[in-house]
Order: sequence, then structure tokens, then C-alpha cells
Amino acid sequence: MSRKLTPFILLLLLAMLLAACGGSADEPETTDTTDTAADTTDTADEATDEEMTEEEMASMVEVFSWWTGGGEAAGLEAMIGVFAEKYPDIEFVNAAVAGGAGTNARAVLATRLQANDAPDSWQGHAGQELIGTYVAADQLEPVNFLFEENGWLEVMPETLIPLISQDGNIYSVPVNIHRANVLWYNPTVLSENGVDVPTSLAEWFTAMDALQAAGMDAPLAMGEQWTAMHLFETVLLASLGPDAYEALWDGSGDWGSAEVTAALNDYAKVLTYVNSDASALTWQDASQLVVNGDAAFNVMGDWAEGYFREIGFEPNTGYGWAAVPGTDGNFQFLSDSFVLPKGAPHRDAAIAWLTVAGSIEGQDAFNPVKGSIPARSDADRSLYGEYLLSAMDDWASDRVVGSLTHGVVANDAFKSEIDTALGLFLADGNIEGFQSALVAACSASGPCQ
Ligand code: GAL
Repeated sequence: MSRKLTPFILLLLLAMLLAACGGSADEPETTDTTDTAADTTDTADEATDEEMTEEEMASMVEVFSWWTGGGEAAGLEAMIGVFAEKYPDIEFVNAAVAGGAGTNARAVLATRLQANDAPDSWQGHAGQELIGTYVAADQLEPVNFLFEENGWLEVMPETLIPLISQDGNIYSVPVNIHRANVLWYNPTVLSENGVDVPTSLAEWFTAMDALQAAGMDAPLAMGEQWTAMHLFETVLLASLGPDAYEALWDGSGDWGSAEVTAALNDYAKVLTYVNSDASALTWQDASQLVVNGDAAFNVMGDWAEGYFREIGFEPNTGYGWAAVPGTDGNFQFLSDSFVLPKGAPHRDAAIAWLTVAGSIEGQDAFNPVKGSIPARSDADRSLYGEYLLSAMDDWASDRVVGSLTHGVVANDAFKSEIDTALGLFLADGNIEGFQSALVAACSASGPCQ
């Protein structure tokens, strides 16, 4: 009998001990998951307080992005290098979360913001992602004072300022300009097959038919779903032209029009040339198919150039570039920019980071490696390679339109509905259903409301 009681008594003692410590064995987990946002932050702060002195806490900056590999991380590292030189006493905490176009990172960021656990600064796209999402949710501090102190209004492009402003307040510091509508191609594959670089959708289809006839099943490399959206926006631009493309985002265009039907048919045709394993590939995997000669073309933003260079390929021999067929003369752009959140845990350090992101040193360190052109107009051109010099010239002379996938033309709500419609279309190929879903998305969350 007494032997049977022993485990019971031990359990009793354990329970009494836990009660004396102020909780049951389950309690810590429950606290973590169900506490209010404010309580969770307090708990985290207490833990941090124990580990760090106040001075140590003031001397760090946590910066959030999705630049973890393939040219992107190297660009970020270069800018961190400039930061370390200018602010040797501030520890840089790189909170990047992997995943192209920020698909994973932005979900993590949303959860953190909801839990009142903002990083000190994060990467957000100029345009509707910034204004229609973060500013609309009242999550950011204006940074006009930084523009004034640093004279940035004189060197940042006039086209960009309205996209990062609302009611006279400027809400981010742009670090670059990327081009979305780039067709990357393998020069050897094209010349060996007697294929010219296509300049229209019709020429592109003919070129891809010729490559398929020569035995290349999938001449156009594509990756996971956001890269399908990226391809989609460039085909919309090619098919509709810049005026009708822009009208889709300001409410003056009709998503149900015959022109949009034609554009969706073009897109459906483009998809017939794509690799069947696209959904399993990252953008880097898809771009790599081109330089390896397994595909002839890839449509990707010019961060692909940073990647090609990082993995050892040379411009013109390893890879060539052109505007996506049918979009020459248009620069479909996006801009990476950093923000100052309300209640940044280390506000002064965040301001130090933003100062570097907007500086000529920061931008000239970051962009040549990242594969983007600087947002500032006074960059040192000698630091940039052939592709980026051509992008600088195009940016200065082309018609500029915004990217959907990378936050310029649609806020998160509208973009996410388009993404859902696109996902269904990729699975069922139903063009009519896709168009109705796009019409409905515009009415529910877009400018047609
Ligand atoms: C974009 C971002 C670029 C690049 C790309 C691929 O959204 O603006 O800087 O990171 O995603 O990850």
C-alpha cells in the first residue's frame, strides 16, 4: 500500500511546489499564446531587461527584410558594412526571413505587428503597400525630418515622393529602384537555335514555338506563385499598353473589358511554355534554369542580375536582357524602402539605419551588389555594371508604371484577392472564371469599390 502511494505523494508534492511558484505546469504555454499583445511584449521586455543593460539595448537596431540569399543578402551585407563604419557602437540585428518577394517575411511581420512587437525598421515597398497598408493602419512615423536634415528631397526622384507620402507626410526612405519587366535570356541558347530576342508578344510566341520544336519543352522558366503574378503583371502591361494598365489600378479601367480578356488569353498562352514544376521552384531556381541553358527565358525583376553575378555569370555571355516583349519604352518599377515604425524599440538606432539607407554611401554600396539602381540621382555611375547603367538610362527616359507583385499599385487586401484568383486560375486554367474573380476583387478591395 505504502509503495503504491509513493508516486502519488510525489505528484502531490510537485503540485504543491508549482502552486507555491504561482502557476500550474501548463501555465507558461497558456500565457504565451493567449495573453494580450501588451502583456506578451512586457514579458519579452522583462526577459530582455534581465539579459541586457539599458545602454546595451539602446545600442542595437533590429532590421527586418527578406534578403537572405542570392545577391540580396550580399547587397544587405554591403549596406550593413557602411552602417558598421558610421555607427560602430550600434549592433545590427539582421531579422531577415527567407522567401522571395517577402511572401513569408511579410506574414511574419504582420504577426509581429499584431503582437505589438515591431522591429526597429522594416523593408516596405513604395506605393500602395506602404500607404494603403502600413500608413492606413497607422503603424508608421513620418520621416520628413530626415528628408529635410539630409537634403534628400533634392536627390530623390520626383516620381517617387508621392508614392511614399500622404497628406504632406513622407513615410519611408527609398534605397533603390528595381525594374520588374525584364526578360532574361540565354544568349547561347538563342543563337544556337537561330532565335532573335523577341520584341512583341507575337515574336515571343514564335521564338518559343521554335525552341519547343527544337526539343526544349519549357523555354520559359517560372517559379512559385508570386513569380507567376510577376509574369502576369508584365503580360498585362504588354497586352494592354501603359494607359490601360494604369487605369486598372486607379479605378478608371474595366477589369471586365474585352481588352482584359485578350490580355488574360495572352497570359494563358505564355503559361503553356512554362516548366511543369514551377510551383516547387524559388525565383533563384527559375532564373538559374536560364543561365544553365535548361530554359531560354525568364521574366524576373533585376534582382536576378545580382544573383547571376553572384553565381559567377557575366553579362552578355552568361545572360542577356531586354524589356519583356511588348513593353519596351516602359519601366515597370518598384522601390525598396525602409520605415520608422511608431514605437520603434530603438528609435535612435532606427534613425541611424534610415540615415545610412538614404545616404549616397549606403546606396552605392547596396545597389551594385543587389542588382538595383539607387533611388538617389547622384550615384557614382562608375560603380555600376553594364545592365544597371542601361537601367539607369531607361529609368530616366522610359514611361514609368508601377508593379503589382511588389507593392506599388495595389494595397495588401486587393493584391491578396488577385493572388487568390490567380492561384485558382493556375490550377484550373479557366480564363472566364479568372476574369470574373478579378472584377469581383476590384469591387471588394480595389479602386472599383
Ligand atoms: C521584391 C523586392 C526585391 C527583391 C525581390 C525578390 O519584392 O522588392 O528587393 O527582394 O522581392 O525577393
